[in-house]
Amino acid sequence: MGHRMRSTEFFTQIREGSRCSAEAIVPLALELVHPQSVVDVGCGIGTWLAVFKEHGVEDILGIDGDYVDSAMLEIPAERFLAADLSKGFGVNRRFDLAVCLEVAEQLPPECAKTLVDSVTNLAPIVLFSAAIPFQGGTHHVNEQWPDYWAKRFQERNYVVIDCLRKRIWSNPNLDWWYAQNILLFARRDHLERSAALKREWELTDVSQLAVVHPRQHLHRIRKAPSTSWRPSRADEERSASLEDVLREIRPFTMVQSESLVELALQVRSVLVEEIPGNLVECGVWRGGSAFLMAKCLQQAGVTNRKVWLFDSFEGLPAPQEIDGPAALAYASDPANPGYFDNCRASLEDVQGTAERLGLSAYTECVKGWFEETLPANRERVGAIAILRIDADWYSSVRACLTHLYDRVVPGGFVVLDDYYTYDGCALAVHEFLGQRSLSHRIEAVMYQSKHGAYCQTALFRKGRRTWKHTKRKLLKRGLL
Ligand SMILES: C[S@@+](CC[C@H](N)C(=O)[O-])C[C@H]1O[C@@H](n2cnc3c(N)ncnc32)[C@H](O)[C@@H]1O
Repeated sequence: MGHRMRSTEFFTQIREGSRCSAEAIVPLALELVHPQSVVDVGCGIGTWLAVFKEHGVEDILGIDGDYVDSAMLEIPAERFLAADLSKGFGVNRRFDLAVCLEVAEQLPPECAKTLVDSVTNLAPIVLFSAAIPFQGGTHHVNEQWPDYWAKRFQERNYVVIDCLRKRIWSNPNLDWWYAQNILLFARRDHLERSAALKREWELTDVSQLAVVHPRQHLHRIRKAPSTSWRPSRADEERSASLEDVLREIRPFTMVQSESLVELALQVRSVLVEEIPGNLVECGVWRGGSAFLMAKCLQQAGVTNRKVWLFDSFEGLPAPQEIDGPAALAYASDPANPGYFDNCRASLEDVQGTAERLGLSAYTECVKGWFEETLPANRERVGAIAILRIDADWYSSVRACLTHLYDRVVPGGFVVLDDYYTYDGCALAVHEFLGQRSLSHRIEAVMYQSKHGAYCQTALFRKGRRTWKHTKRKLLKRGLL
């Protein structure tokens, strides 16, 4: 499961950068807007509001999920309101300025309109930023260019004013994502009340909203798997086609980008190395990661393999003690935006998406609980080249390994999405490998944040060399 709660650790990590950025940007916003009251939608621990307060704005309100640790709040507790940002929330008053920074990309696309409605109901001016495609970050499920958000604001009669980015672009003290993404939106009629805002609006070039900051560019390049070889034109075309695919399937998956890219490369390596077998995902939710595998088959013109999608299509079963505290916390907090209705998606929804994406011929869905569907269908599934297990809890992961491991061919992959997230998943894997005396090396797909490298997804290969070794070899030869 790719979703992560915005935990104490998360807020501790971002606090310092957030404060430095707020200290640079808040005075600029004040100079233009002169607000007496500010509301921050997705305020986290309230760092930005605390800086507004330090600049004399006493009337503040922060809104965020109830998972925010109140002990960490930088604003008085009575100035914090817990609400689910993915649903509309009612605050019975208006403010001079609403702030909503690096939040929108964390809500599923179907909630984008609701969020824009909420912030525009709160204030005539909105200080807004949201991650751009492939920016990367925790639980980014709707990374979009600013034009996407400008359109949504326009539907509410708000215009975009791009006057802050040029003033902070070269400031090394603030986080580059604000320099890259921060915009003001103002209700059109409100411009008549502020000559300064109106002038900045007139100076805004709406054809230049989508820009990439040099620090973001370098950050992505440094994160690339290898910088020691120059990609050929064919490689570049291949990777551009992957970006298109990722964008297409993004709304249907909660899996993080790094793991999706690795998955696509694994499918390509299966084809290059001619490892036989079908591709299987156990635990598909809305189908996105399975569709990614299917798109890779389709792009390669493969017609003799398909992707099997196993799911209850009724959501997750209840976690047990063995699944550990993170699992129990997840299940106990349906209000969390990362809860995704207990990962429920219907069979009809997933099949409909497969059809719209042109993938019906490449996919086969099997509805029901793994304990029944896997033994009943393992003969039909046949040989497996990639077994992707994204089923979160101990008993489900155990069932997948018990019923399907022996179908995975030599050189095939077993991908374990939740190994680093939930205790039960790690236990099921080690228990299974131990009982069968299997010595597979667990490898990690890493995620590079500005604070260091973290493990995202685990995997092992059956038999052959490690994935790391194969990937390096195939990338060097320009085969992936
Ligand atoms: C985290 S979601 C999968 C995310 C998905 N792979 C994606 O791309 O976003 C976990 C899924 O596992 C399914 N699931 C978990 N345990 C199951 C079981 N024992 N039998 C059937 N489905 C199960 C749930 O219904 C849910 O859709």
